[in-house]
Amino acid sequence: MDLSGARVLVAGATGVLGGALTAELAGRGACPALAGRDPARLAHVAQACPGAPTVLFDAYDPASCARAVHDAKAALGGLDAVVAAFGAVAFGRAAEVGDEVAEHLYAVNVLAPAALFRAALTVMGPGSVIAAFTGVVAERPQAGMADYSASKAALSAWLGAVRREVRTSGIHVLEARPGHLDTGFADRPVAGTAPPMPAGGDPHRVAAALADAMETDAELLFTAPDGTPVVERRAR
Ligand SMILES: NC(=O)c1ccc[n+]([C@@H]2O[C@H](COP(=O)([O-])OP(=O)(O)OC[C@H]3O[C@@H](n4cnc5c(N)ncnc54)[C@H](OP(=O)(O)O)[C@@H]3O)[C@@H](O)[C@H]2O)c1
Repeated sequence: MDLSGARVLVAGATGVLGGALTAELAGRGACPALAGRDPARLAHVAQACPGAPTVLFDAYDPASCARAVHDAKAALGGLDAVVAAFGAVAFGRAAEVGDEVAEHLYAVNVLAPAALFRAALTVMGPGSVIAAFTGVVAERPQAGMADYSASKAALSAWLGAVRREVRTSGIHVLEARPGHLDTGFADRPVAGTAPPMPAGGDPHRVAAALADAMETDAELLFTAPDGTPVVERRAR
């Protein structure tokens, strides 16, 4: 897709990756709409993106995800791409993580992006893009992160199935599956404490690579062991 003038909903724009992606998109001439759950944080990030509309959603409320898509479309006069840049993580051995924590992770990491994209697919046409951050755990589940890993694997599977459904209609499905990044995400779990982790990759490089992937209608972005983002035209 041509990002210049593209109308892009960034859901999770208050996050580090969402903020970096919003700046990257705006720098390439796109028109982003910023979605988040907290009005004050949303207003704060909107200052860096003058003129960009803001819409509220809470990933724990699927109806609000669909509403965000329709609100963004109305504000931008159409929608060419929707990116899910939000998520939640929890740490702890599987037997010790509570059911409510597990439910939260599946709601935020699977059901919410699915609700967002279901609504997007009804309003977007050929050449448009839906994109989401899963993570390397989707293919390499980690001990102490069973529900986070499983939720990202579930989202990855959902995207893969939808990609097959919409390929002939010209809508592109992009999965970003980076390794650990230096965003502080692991320090903001809904439960538990992160194990010691090596230094993370640069979120700004990943945001730039995601924009490249959108521009080239690629299907997969991952990071090499040294943190270098790699864009692949076809998902494996
Ligand atoms: N950082 C990494 O190492 C890494 C690696 C691979 C994949 N990812 C994925 O990348 C995505 C973005 O993470 P990040 O690193 O940028 O972390 P981040 O800065 O903590 O961003 C997380 C975002 O998710 C939003 N969020 C969380 N729960 C929400 C809810 N119930 N409703 C609406 N928004 C909610 C947060 O909103 P608030 O600002 O309101 O809290 C924030 O915008 C996540 O899906 C994560 O799984 C991250």
